Amino acid sequence: MTHISKQRAEQRGKSSEMGGVVASSALVVLLLGVALVAPASAQLPADCPDRCGNISVPYPFGIGARCARDFGFELVCNHSYNPPRLTFFPPLPTPTSILAGRRLNLASLSLADGEAIALVSAYRECNTTAGVVISNNRNQTIYLSLLGSTTYRLSAARNRFVALGCPNLGYLSDDMGYYVTGCTSVCRPSQWNVVSPGACTGVGCCQSRIPPNVSYYEPSVQGFDKETRIFNENTTACRYAFVAEDKWIETTYSGRPDFNRSDDFAVPVVLDWAIRNVANCAVAQRNMTDYMCRSAYSDCVNSTNGAGYRCKCSQGYEGNPYLHDGCNDIIECDHLDKYPCYGVCTNVQGGYRCDCPPGFSGDATKINGCRPNDKFTLALKVVTGVSVGVFLSVFMCFWLYLGLQKRKLIRTKQRFFEQNGGVILQQQMRHSGGGAGGFRIFSTEELEKATNNFAADRVLGRGGHGVVYKGVLDDNMTVAIKKSKMTEEAQIKEFAREMFILSQINHRNVVKLLGCCLEVQVPMLVYEFVSNGTLYHYIHGKEPRVDIALDTRLRIAAESAEALSYMHSSASPPILHGDVKTANILLDDKLNAKVSDFGASKLAPNDEAEIATLVQGTCGYLDPEYLMTCQLTDKSDVYSFGVVVLELLTRKKALYLDGPEEDRSLVSCFTTAVKAGRHQELLDSQVRDEMNNEMLTEIAHLLMRCLSMNGEERPTMKEVAERLEMLRRYQQHPLAEAAGNAEENQSLLGMEQLNSNYYQFRQHDVLDLEEGSTYTFSS
Ligand SMILES: *[C@@H]1O[C@H](CO)[C@@H](O)[C@H](O)[C@H]1NC(C)=O
Ligand SMILES: *[C@@H]1O[C@H](CO)[C@@H](O)[C@H](O)[C@H]1NC(C)=O
Ligand SMILES: *[C@@H]1O[C@H](CO)[C@@H](O)[C@H](O)[C@H]1NC(C)=O
Ligand SMILES: *[C@@H]1O[C@H](CO)[C@@H](O)[C@H](O)[C@H]1NC(C)=O
Ligand SMILES: *[C@@H]1O[C@H](CO)[C@@H](O)[C@H](O)[C@H]1NC(C)=O
Ligand SMILES: *[C@@H]1O[C@H](CO)[C@@H](O)[C@H](O)[C@H]1NC(C)=O
Ligand SMILES: *[C@@H]1O[C@H](CO)[C@@H](O)[C@H](O)[C@H]1NC(C)=O
Ligand SMILES: *[C@@H]1O[C@H](CO)[C@@H](O)[C@H](O)[C@H]1NC(C)=O
Ligand SMILES: *[C@@H]1O[C@H](CO)[C@@H](O)[C@H](O)[C@H]1NC(C)=O
Repeated sequence: MTHISKQRAEQRGKSSEMGGVVASSALVVLLLGVALVAPASAQLPADCPDRCGNISVPYPFGIGARCARDFGFELVCNHSYNPPRLTFFPPLPTPTSILAGRRLNLASLSLADGEAIALVSAYRECNTTAGVVISNNRNQTIYLSLLGSTTYRLSAARNRFVALGCPNLGYLSDDMGYYVTGCTSVCRPSQWNVVSPGACTGVGCCQSRIPPNVSYYEPSVQGFDKETRIFNENTTACRYAFVAEDKWIETTYSGRPDFNRSDDFAVPVVLDWAIRNVANCAVAQRNMTDYMCRSAYSDCVNSTNGAGYRCKCSQGYEGNPYLHDGCNDIIECDHLDKYPCYGVCTNVQGGYRCDCPPGFSGDATKINGCRPNDKFTLALKVVTGVSVGVFLSVFMCFWLYLGLQKRKLIRTKQRFFEQNGGVILQQQMRHSGGGAGGFRIFSTEELEKATNNFAADRVLGRGGHGVVYKGVLDDNMTVAIKKSKMTEEAQIKEFAREMFILSQINHRNVVKLLGCCLEVQVPMLVYEFVSNGTLYHYIHGKEPRVDIALDTRLRIAAESAEALSYMHSSASPPILHGDVKTANILLDDKLNAKVSDFGASKLAPNDEAEIATLVQGTCGYLDPEYLMTCQLTDKSDVYSFGVVVLELLTRKKALYLDGPEEDRSLVSCFTTAVKAGRHQELLDSQVRDEMNNEMLTEIAHLLMRCLSMNGEERPTMKEVAERLEMLRRYQQHPLAEAAGNAEENQSLLGMEQLNSNYYQFRQHDVLDLEEGSTYTFSS
């Protein structure tokens, strides 16, 4: 046991003129050091009281030495008072000590804050007249001594010094009798209640802060010299000096405080306590047997006022950290007043979760913090955003791609258009007064629309040159659209010019070329639509065969010849057909002939360079001379036309491959028959019935000339047309009935004479023909 005695004996005498000198002397003997130390790991005795009156006394405090951690935390509960009084400063070792019985009352203890609140009497002096103090309460416990305390420190932060009453120079002195802090309170008679109402700021009451590390204080008050009038008017009878908790001062001296009192009273003083046998947590944790933060879920905090440390339960736990299992999880959900939750509260170890109800989101710890869930959640937003982004980029790419494709297509079209001579054609059309003869240039789209995108059911026919579709234009006009196959580059160059010339042809027996489309690689041709199909089909069509009157045949032949003749003569150089055959002669609903497919024809070449290197035409119709010379002439068309007339009269195909070998060519068959004088047998039975011998001879003669091996010996197309027309009129004429009549023959021949061409058909000529020699006529 160590006794540290501190003697303080100081006589303070102040000059007499300073009235009311308070002299105080005190001998303070403090017992420091420390006596009993409870075994650190020992369990608390079961009978330790946990409260005194209504003040709870938690470990490490204890009532009685057995129950406290050590001497510093030992308290006394005196049940002689009602309510019982909790005091510290245990009984001094010698009951004769002047401090005996001067224990401090405790009003409360707090583990969490590390604070204890002691009740200390306020120092009072009254009725000071002429420097003589009539009464004070100095014999009460008005000073506070924590000297050598192992537990308590005066809180400088939470206490203030107060001087009350006026005039009053109040102050504190330390254990050595020296001034610590103080303030002056004065009286103001006139505006007593007006100035500084409700605050302890100098009129009737003043306050000041306390410096740190004060472990002893003793309050004193002092008056002023009488001559100082402002200090001595309307004085109070009593003046006080004390240290008190800041909060208490605030509440007590707010509103209309009573500065003019004369009673004794105790004020709360805040003391900071800690376990101070080590300097701080770090040091304390080195000796775990002595370490006081025993509970799991407890933490150590350094003392902020003086050396030492305290313990506290970890966040989310409550209880006594100085005891084993002292800290318990806070069931926050049972204390929603302290732990607000306006949603679904779930307790977890060391905390709690406060969620919004299902379908809601937000901050459930706030009123109305939960909002109904946005269906459009973040994830959904992200997904939607990404989707939209991806979609947009794909769309943009696709759009760009389409744009490029379209540009490419347009460029391709333009290239073809230029390649196919579209520009030249346009120029020519402009020169001739724009779209002369209704000729126009069609776009691909127009033709696609007209043919239902070249549907298979629109096909009118297929040939060596391409496919012909039936189309209906926007103005409900029915047309035939010919889509050619690849043609020679050289041909394409001349194409536009030819197209233009052909478009100028306007003959009732020529299928009209309405326009063309140049935007494709091989130009497409648009013709007038002729309803009754080809002559080929008409003649050789399926069973049952329709009867064809001789007049009809002659008319078709004459009209076709007229058309070819017109083509040969209308333009310079002449327009040659090049592929005259029954399949290229179309019939309209009145069986009028219309020659078609000049598209494959060539303008007669004017120099050798332009001679076609590729023989065109159809077997059975081909001019043998053309085969040899490769030069297409108007006489080539005459030869082919001869075959057509022959086919028309015999109703036999130009080549019939199923017959005996020598009979396969209609031309050779016919010439053989003529040689043998049996050509009548070759004719269609109906023709034979209607035709007289004279006419037969005449036709045979004309045909033999047309089919002559030598082109020069063939008549012109004009002549052929005229003779056919004549024969037709002769056939229609009643005179024709007198077959074999010389006069009528003469008249017929006379008509021929008008044309200044009279031919006598002779037997030997036919023989010549057989021998492959030229077929000659005498005129
Ligand atoms: C204790 O009791 C006294 C009077 O009985 C009362 O004024 C005081 O507020 C109580 N203290 C606590 C902490 O309950
Ligand atoms: C309680 O207080 C009374 C009166 O002050 C005193 O006589 C008595 O000794 C005290 N009891 C204890 C246990 O201190
Ligand atoms: C001192 O003042 C108090 C209150 O003003 C009064 O009750 C008391 O009688 C006075 N005593 C003396 C000795 O003047
Ligand atoms: C203090 O002294 C007065 C008279 O001087 C006396 O009445 C009072 O009981 C004393 N108080 C204490 C606590 O000793
Ligand atoms: C506090 O005061 C004590 C003496 O009372 C002294 O030993 C100590 O160094 C002081 N501490 C500080 C921080 O001033
Ligand atoms: C203080 O109170 C006393 C009696 O209670 C009274 O006589 C005196 O005038 C008061 N003084 C002031 C300044 O109010
Ligand atoms: C203040 O003092 C003056 C004279 O000194 C007196 O007339 C007046 O009544 C006093 N006021 C109070 C409130 O005591
Ligand atoms: C730890 O503390 C105990 C009790 O206070 C003491 O007996 C012991 O010597 C200390 N050990 C160390 C290493 O300081
Ligand atoms: C306590 O103070 C010591 C020394 O200043 C320091 O090392 C330690 O980290 C502090 N501990 C805590 C919990 O603040």
